[in-house]
Order: sequence, then structure tokens, then C-alpha cells
Amino acid sequence: MKQMLIAANWKMNKTRVESESFANELLSWVEKNNLRSKILICPPFINIPFVYNILCKTAVQIGAQNCFFEKEGAYTGEISPQMLVSVGCKYVIIGHSERRTHFGENDEVINRKIKSALASELKPIFCVGETLNEREMQLTNNVLERQIRIGLCAIDSNIMENIVIAYEPVWAIGTGISATTEQIDEAHNFIRKLLVDLFGNSGKAVLILYGGSLNSNNAYEIFSLENVNGGLIGKASLDVKEFIQIVEKSEQILS
Ligand code: PGA
Repeated sequence: MKQMLIAANWKMNKTRVESESFANELLSWVEKNNLRSKILICPPFINIPFVYNILCKTAVQIGAQNCFFEKEGAYTGEISPQMLVSVGCKYVIIGHSERRTHFGENDEVINRKIKSALASELKPIFCVGETLNEREMQLTNNVLERQIRIGLCAIDSNIMENIVIAYEPVWAIGTGISATTEQIDEAHNFIRKLLVDLFGNSGKAVLILYGGSLNSNNAYEIFSLENVNGGLIGKASLDVKEFIQIVEKSEQILS
């Protein structure tokens, strides 16, 4: 049966009060609905405990947007996977294109972070995706293959079920221009095939999310695709009503 994960990536948005107000509104909706989709909220680090405190008695899970690969030590400004687990996180987004672009993260660093997260029983949401230039040069599959081969290097196939992949074409993030369903279908099928080539049957268990200008208008069509197991949602996840509508589309797919 198809599994769906609807993940909110708030990026650097929302104060404590704004985070709590979102969480309270989501709480009252979730309590009234018996959901089949999994919901995940990834607030900025500092607001994680506030959101966790409101939602911890529900099935809604909390994640972070990044972590460092070391356990502890003199790394000013960094946060370890263990620290995230200690405040209730179950997931961590790793290798988001904004981290690659603004903070110089490369495939090797991302691989270290993924391994470190897994060692702490934190599920990585590993982001991959091509730039517009790479797509225009017809390098999409090469880029995805390089990112996945290096990002998942030396990871055992028996823990693949703990890994989530998010296909996020860089040109679709925050632009209001989502990839077409054909482009998404093609990329997700390619990723699924690669995972099965690399990890055998375990590659079939990996959830593959789509991200990039996903909203309540395009969610149903995108979620209907065979190898799409939900979404990683930026802008449209900031408004709780819009976010709930996206979850409702996922519920329609699963019903
Ligand atoms: P967007 O961001 O929904 O605002 O395009 C998605 C993401 O970056 O995860």
C-alpha cells in the first residue's frame, strides 16, 4: 500500500509565538481526523521544543532542517543529531539545495551527515535535485545519480527504510513554478530504479518526496504519481490552512 509523508520545511520563518499558533491550530485539526498520511513539521532549531510540546501526544512528528556530523565538541553554532533526538526530533532534512548553495555543503559532507543522523536513529530526508542549467544541458539524471551514489555511499541496505529522499529541482524551489507531472514522474522513477539497483529490495521501501512550489492546487496530481510518497513543502507549509489542505489531498489519494 502506498505510504505518504507530508513534511513542512519552515526554513528561517516563524517566531516562537507564530510557531505555537500554527501548532495549536494543527493540533485541533489532527485531533478531529483519523489520518493515514504521516505529518512532519520541521521548524527552525530554536522553536523545535515549543512545537514538540504542543504536538507530542499526536502522530505528528517533528524534525530539524539540518545537523552537523560530529557528536559534540568545539563546533561553534552547530547542532548534533543526538541533541535533536533529545528534544523529540525523529527526522532531519539533509543536503537541502539552500545548504548546498549558501553554506557550501557538498556530496561528501552530506554523506557524513546522513551516516551520523542514522547512527543516532534520526531519519534523514536527503534532498537531491538539479539546477535549471543542469536540466537544460540534459544532465538531470547524471546529477541525481551522482548525488545519490555519493550521498548514500557506505550505507547498509538494511537501514534504507530509515531514509527518505526528497527530489527538489532547484529551479522549482520557492519560484512558484513547480516541475510538471511528467518531469516529476520521470525523476522519481529514475530515483526508484537507481535505489533498487544500489540496494535491491530495500530500495523499494524508501519514501521519495517531491518538493518545489508544491501547494494545495497541484498536490493531488503530483501525489497521484506512482513513485511519489508525499511532499517536502516550503512556502505553502507556512500557512496552517493551506498545509492542512495539502494533507487532505494526500488523504484523498490514500482513501
Ligand atoms: P517551496 O520550498 O515549497 O517554497 O518551493 C520547498 C523546499 O525548499 O523544501
